[in-house]
Amino acid sequence: MTSNNPQTREWQTLSNDHHLAPFSDFKQLKEKGPRIITSAKGVYLWDSEGNKILDGMAGLWCVAIGYGRDELADAASKQMRELPYYNLFFQTAHPPVLELAKAIADIAPQGMNHVFFTGSGSEGNDTMLRMVRHYWAIKGQPKKKVIISRKNGYHGSTVAGASLGGMKYMHEQGDLPIPGIVHIAQPYWFAEGGDMTPEEFGVWAANQLEEKILEVGVDNVGAFIAEPIQGAGGVIIPPDTYWPRIKEILAKYDILFVADEVICGFGRTGEWFGSDFYDLKPDMMTIAKGLTSGYIPMGGLIVRDEVVEVLNEGGDFNHGFTYSGHPVAAAVALENIRILREEKIIERVHAETAPYLQKRLRELNDHPLVGEVRGVGLLGAIELVQDKATRKRYEGKGVGMICRTFCFENGLIMRAVGDTMIIAPPLVITLAEIDELVTKARKCLDLTLSALQG
Ligand SMILES: Cc1ncc(COP(=O)(O)O)c(C=O)c1O
Repeated sequence: MTSNNPQTREWQTLSNDHHLAPFSDFKQLKEKGPRIITSAKGVYLWDSEGNKILDGMAGLWCVAIGYGRDELADAASKQMRELPYYNLFFQTAHPPVLELAKAIADIAPQGMNHVFFTGSGSEGNDTMLRMVRHYWAIKGQPKKKVIISRKNGYHGSTVAGASLGGMKYMHEQGDLPIPGIVHIAQPYWFAEGGDMTPEEFGVWAANQLEEKILEVGVDNVGAFIAEPIQGAGGVIIPPDTYWPRIKEILAKYDILFVADEVICGFGRTGEWFGSDFYDLKPDMMTIAKGLTSGYIPMGGLIVRDEVVEVLNEGGDFNHGFTYSGHPVAAAVALENIRILREEKIIERVHAETAPYLQKRLRELNDHPLVGEVRGVGLLGAIELVQDKATRKRYEGKGVGMICRTFCFENGLIMRAVGDTMIIAPPLVITLAEIDELVTKARKCLDLTLSALQG
């Protein structure tokens, strides 16, 4: 409880007395009190102390079109007055969900024309797991249940989502993963590449998929799920050799491929989907976040036509949520997609802001703390190291957290994944705002280095 502002203190007291925050150490949060964010516009947030903060993470990678767009509020308000809720169970539908499904089919990769809606990305991946198994059962291969995923991947926080994810610290709580999910190595050259070149390591990491398929037996494997670029794991850009080799392996074995597009989808890479960026041909794609720019919760699973044809023969799919395809969320998503398209926001990311951000970020390579800068589109990562040449980390110093705190104190949100600083600003960020982001990032790297030396 550090604030002198009575209003902030009041909110912090409410937090202490009543709120359990996600991904937080409850006791530590009580001692410190949360930072209270009160308003936002464009790429900026304001907190209850009056500080203006450049949101280098677009919330949680989601606020694609930036904060404060009245059109989305108006779309929600109009829909709430007309039809605030109705479910899609029992052979009913409503216009917004149908129009949204069509709008998504129009932007999705060719041959992916159907969407199952959920309330979040995690629910999208739960849906995927059940749909994959249902699919193989309909095809008379009910043993094909195992889903192959990757260590340090992130697929959500429900029981299935956290199991599919490869976060050890999540598995440790609650006996995860559930049976039927196995993990292979991730393509994280900087941390795990050893003496291999990135290209060699990319092939090695991709080959782990084939080894796992053979170990489990292709008759038992239902699907492989992966993020085109791992986000929460630390913005891990696979070496150039990785996806081509994975594609060869997928072509060889009869298993489904699921691209988790929750972060990469809706323009983050400068293409509509990460699968477009890497020319992947997924059978299913999980979506959320940028679908509504985070203004309202919504997720889903986009499914390839050939898979839908099989599902059509399978009778009831006994799965769904009260809020699947919620009309207000659907109306907001439709308006969000309209804005992304009509304002050519993704085209601008592709042609202008992504190349500029990537160029400016790489200037940080000269900083003594920086071991690598990497990025694609409006995604970026800065590896903090003790020794650039050997990629040796500062052991046990919590350098990432030190840097993150300096960032907050200096008006920038950069997230720390261990000692990797990551950014994913709103897609509407301007060139001047990119300059501000990079200038602030450098200042915080300087402050972090001084703190380590002092
Ligand atoms: C790749 C990926 N998949 C799934 C999820 C889970 O989405 P949600 O938090 O909406 O459940 C996330 C969330 O960060 C994600 O990054």
